[in-house]
Amino acid sequence: MAKETLPPPLNPDEIKKMREVCRLAARTLEHVASYVKVGVSLLELDQIVYDYTLSHGAEPAPLGYHGYPKSICTSVNDVVCHGVPDEYRLRSGDIVNIDVTPKKDGFYGDTSATFLVGEVTPEVAHFVEVARLARDRGIEVVRPGATTGDIGFEINQFVTRHGFTTVKEIGGHGIGRRFHEEPFVPSHGKRGRGPMLLPWRCITVEPMINQGSDEVVEFLIPNSSIKWYRTRDGKLSAQFEHTVLITDTGYEILTIP
Ligand code: MF3
Ligand code: CO
Ligand code: CO
Repeated sequence: MAKETLPPPLNPDEIKKMREVCRLAARTLEHVASYVKVGVSLLELDQIVYDYTLSHGAEPAPLGYHGYPKSICTSVNDVVCHGVPDEYRLRSGDIVNIDVTPKKDGFYGDTSATFLVGEVTPEVAHFVEVARLARDRGIEVVRPGATTGDIGFEINQFVTRHGFTTVKEIGGHGIGRRFHEEPFVPSHGKRGRGPMLLPWRCITVEPMINQGSDEVVEFLIPNSSIKWYRTRDGKLSAQFEHTVLITDTGYEILTIP
């Protein structure tokens, strides 16, 4: 992908706004996490984030984004991403990814985590931990001059060494003045391939990993061009996401409370 398609660098005032909205995103995720219990409904979690976001002078970016109907994504068990909150109530043994994206002062902060509900098996807890560490491995290689392929390679190597797979068709993205912009940040790839990372831009690193096959099936969301995805084999999928600033020498994780 040509360097020209990447957004211009953020100026110091814009970087300050990104730090602020990303801190809010992290706090929002922490807030909603405290309500993740057996019996809570996905719609209740959505409402909690809607209220929290507005009370902090921000808006939930997913709401109305390409027709998306809710304020968060809630992806349970074999749902890979973009699960739309509904009346489903969490049960013991479930895993649920909650993905939040406040928009404030024209800037976006995007973060997600997968939570364990009630009693989950050690195998499932291990799988979810690998998803978190895969995200963190990917972030560690972020610096100016590295490429998106470097991130993807690192993630895929780590995940496959643990016996799991990475989702290929969906991944991270540039973020800042827009919710989704260049470059695409894959969860697999070859070192040195793909767009080069440039200083003072933000990207998300958000690998989706599967317990079984990497194959996913897509489903339509009514009145929206956003799709939601499930694993084809019905096995679990997990994901963690941070928004990361590329600095002059490396990276700064912005979605930290
Ligand atoms: N937050 C998701 C991401 O990490 C995007 C959700 S778009 C929505 O990129 F419309 F589904 F909300
Ligand atoms: Co994202
Ligand atoms: Co997200």
